[in-house]
Amino acid sequence: MDAPNLLNPERRMLLVMQQHASKTKWSLSELLDTCSWSDQAVAVGAGHGLQNHGFVNVTEVTHRQIRLDVEGERAVADGLLEQRLWTWMSQQSEPTMHGLQQAFERHEAGPGVGLLKQLGVSIEGGVLTAQAPDDITAIIEARTSFLNSLPADEQLLDASLVASFSSRRNLIEAVEQTERTWSITPEGANVPAEALEEQRVITDITPELLQTDEWKTANFRAFDVTLESATPRTGRSHPMQALIERIRAIFLEMGFSELVDDYVQSAGWNMDALFIPQDHPAREMQDTFYLDQPASLELDEGLMETWKAIHEHGGDTGSSGWGGTYSTEISQRPLLRTHTTVNTIQYLARHPNEACRVFSVDRVFRKEAIDRTHLPEFHQIEGIIVEEGANLQMLVTTLKTFYAKMGYPEVRVRPAYFPYTEPSLEVEVKWRGKWLELGGAGIFRPEVTEPLGITTPVLAWGMGLERLAMLVLGLDDIRQLYISDLEWLRNQPIL
Ligand code: PHE
Repeated sequence: MDAPNLLNPERRMLLVMQQHASKTKWSLSELLDTCSWSDQAVAVGAGHGLQNHGFVNVTEVTHRQIRLDVEGERAVADGLLEQRLWTWMSQQSEPTMHGLQQAFERHEAGPGVGLLKQLGVSIEGGVLTAQAPDDITAIIEARTSFLNSLPADEQLLDASLVASFSSRRNLIEAVEQTERTWSITPEGANVPAEALEEQRVITDITPELLQTDEWKTANFRAFDVTLESATPRTGRSHPMQALIERIRAIFLEMGFSELVDDYVQSAGWNMDALFIPQDHPAREMQDTFYLDQPASLELDEGLMETWKAIHEHGGDTGSSGWGGTYSTEISQRPLLRTHTTVNTIQYLARHPNEACRVFSVDRVFRKEAIDRTHLPEFHQIEGIIVEEGANLQMLVTTLKTFYAKMGYPEVRVRPAYFPYTEPSLEVEVKWRGKWLELGGAGIFRPEVTEPLGITTPVLAWGMGLERLAMLVLGLDDIRQLYISDLEWLRNQPIL
């Protein structure tokens, strides 16, 4: 017979069994003793391995063990309640209900009376009397010795006592126990002793080992990578954060730099600078979060004058503006930014005509009622390309490249409208056979760029992050992202 390749514990166990050939059954404790092991798992594991080789048989017997529960432990230490009542009764010349209630607390006196009655104590005129005191003493002694005999196998115990104690609260409990015994098979008995010599097995590769040539002939522990194992629950990024990181990586790789700015902004930069008319519905209180404190933000007077001219009649841009009267007070109202374009435009004001590629992935605020697809706080993926000769084709290609890198190669654009871009477009990606709108883009209008002295074309876009997250994570309710459902979070893919 070929010498089987056994693990060391398997070798030791089989050898021990061969050496005690007359012993037909081994219990766990016998194995532990004879093999000099302290860890049950080693013995059980070795037995399992040997069983797989057909060298041992394992027999499992399951039986119920009766153990003391919390009240049972108390009863063993302080005496059963009926024992204590009975002792008390025997010490009284005339035991009364009144006396019992004095001597025992309410939670014991109540059930105690019931126990005494069951034992044959009668109560008349408030006096307790026992007809057959010797019987009572005997019953209580039997109960006490029953408890003292625990833990024990249920089969060895008096069934009526088990039943009566089971009906009392927390005195005893039953636990299922599986007992294994191992026996050697004829095949196991035939394994040659040489195959059972324990070997030095290397489980860890250490620098010391690698410094010598020893590793060349060493015996390495084999790992079975097909075995099931528990998934480790380690800390990890929230899927939303992981997605943001991935988007950042893509833009950085495409040569963009990141812009991070404040949530609180003026209506002037958030809207007026972007040529959004002051009577635009999105500027209403019900759509935008305005701040009470401070009541107003300081803005450059000259800048507001320029915006005023552009909004009222187009200024020097050749545009005819929106007409009406422009209010600089409205410009100075503080709000929570409704789009990250507010930061883009200020970046452009600080760096006019500097060729650049800038992006941001950041939070914006709109007074939306929360539902399956809307949140009042969400994120936008925003970006600009400022470059001589930049054109619509370049904008579309950039967005397509971005979405392709995210795993959505099918992208299309459709004409759209934003007050600050011309032409304007909507970006859609194909997902499960349907076109989904993910954001807007366009080339900034002269009404936006000229007052800031910008003459280079500015390609700009702003897209929803949560929408994209819904696609990436396969969600149909956006709220799932923010409810801290731990089970769901644990099971999210690594992005
Ligand atoms: N700011 C727009 C929005 O909030 C998106 C956009 C940005 C459109 C830049 C065109 C250019 O939806």
